[in-house]
Amino acid sequence: MQLFDVYPLYDITPVKGKGAYVFDKEENKYLDLYGGHAVISIGHSHPAYVNSISKQVAQLGFYSNSIKNPLQNELADKLEKASGIKDYNLFLCNSGAEANENALKVASFYTGKDRVIYFDNAFHGRTSGVVSVTDNENIKAPFNQNHKATKLAPEDTVALEEELKKGDVAAVIFEVIQGVGGLDEASSEFYQKTAELCKKYHSVLIADEVQSGYGRTGDFFAYQKHGIRPDIISIAKGMGNGFPIGGVLIDEAIQAKPGMLGTTFGGNHLACAAGISVLEVIEKEDLLKNATELFEYVKEKAAEIPQIKKIKGRGLMIGLEFDFEIAQLRKDLLYKHQIFTGASANKKLLRILPPLNIQKEHFDALFKALRTALK
Ligand SMILES: Cc1ncc(COP(=O)(O)O)c(C=O)c1O
Repeated sequence: MQLFDVYPLYDITPVKGKGAYVFDKEENKYLDLYGGHAVISIGHSHPAYVNSISKQVAQLGFYSNSIKNPLQNELADKLEKASGIKDYNLFLCNSGAEANENALKVASFYTGKDRVIYFDNAFHGRTSGVVSVTDNENIKAPFNQNHKATKLAPEDTVALEEELKKGDVAAVIFEVIQGVGGLDEASSEFYQKTAELCKKYHSVLIADEVQSGYGRTGDFFAYQKHGIRPDIISIAKGMGNGFPIGGVLIDEAIQAKPGMLGTTFGGNHLACAAGISVLEVIEKEDLLKNATELFEYVKEKAAEIPQIKKIKGRGLMIGLEFDFEIAQLRKDLLYKHQIFTGASANKKLLRILPPLNIQKEHFDALFKALRTALK
């Protein structure tokens, strides 16, 4: 049977991972500065993580959400401690799209409203509700066109208030720093005004931290820098270091009702073991500090390369904006220098999303390769 052919593939077959590297079967070593789309948070095959998952699967890998699972409570408690946020409840699911889909559903249940506001260049996933609030018409099927969704420009609080005033907006969803869109981040003033307007018009503010959360920016959540309190926060990617797990953090003011949300696999024993291990490693290795410090190093290094016009993002969610389109540069980095990097909607932007325990020497390798490739 052939695979349903939706992914453009690199001609590389990794069979092993260790720390910031992946290896193919000929033992060629690739530096992973993309973390498989910001997923690898604590490094490939981290020994503590391998140990936790192995022990858990040997004991009990899965049982449904109809029984007590103290691992879910342990994960929630550790997440509260690591993030420093208070008075939220956690619902566990399996992916970023599912987290956002559940976030929109909760917002709609809570407010009784059915329209959602999203922003230019947003990416929130591919399932039906969230693709309708994603700014890419090419990935919306006719079936996805029937949701009530309105796209606005970030920073335009006048237009935002006009829409909220109409009284039918269940939620405003935003990525604090856009990932796929190209690392843009709106101002604190905009986020604060948006939060204020959501409160005024009884709409739910949803921070999509699927990519920017879990310490990637040097803060546990990227929104924390802006002095706001979202009603709902969605999480996934770095949460399981590759094990599929996502979640929605829901303000305690929003009451759960039996059956309001549900999932077969979400929050299973193995996923929780992965999630707990990730949080333990983030704390033990002080990875938020590492992300913050390395960003300063990257800024210094990038300033030495004249073709880099701008450095976007924060922590280890980085965009290097060049004065030319980077498709060929990315290929050169991969095939000539064995370095994985990422692209975005902004064709001049090289996206860097490495494991959070990466070191200066890995960035030295990147900048050495860049200097050669740019000659
Ligand atoms: C900000 C953001 N939200 C949601 C998603 C969707 O996550 P998933 O692919 O796990 O469904 C992504 C994936 O790239 C993302 O970057």
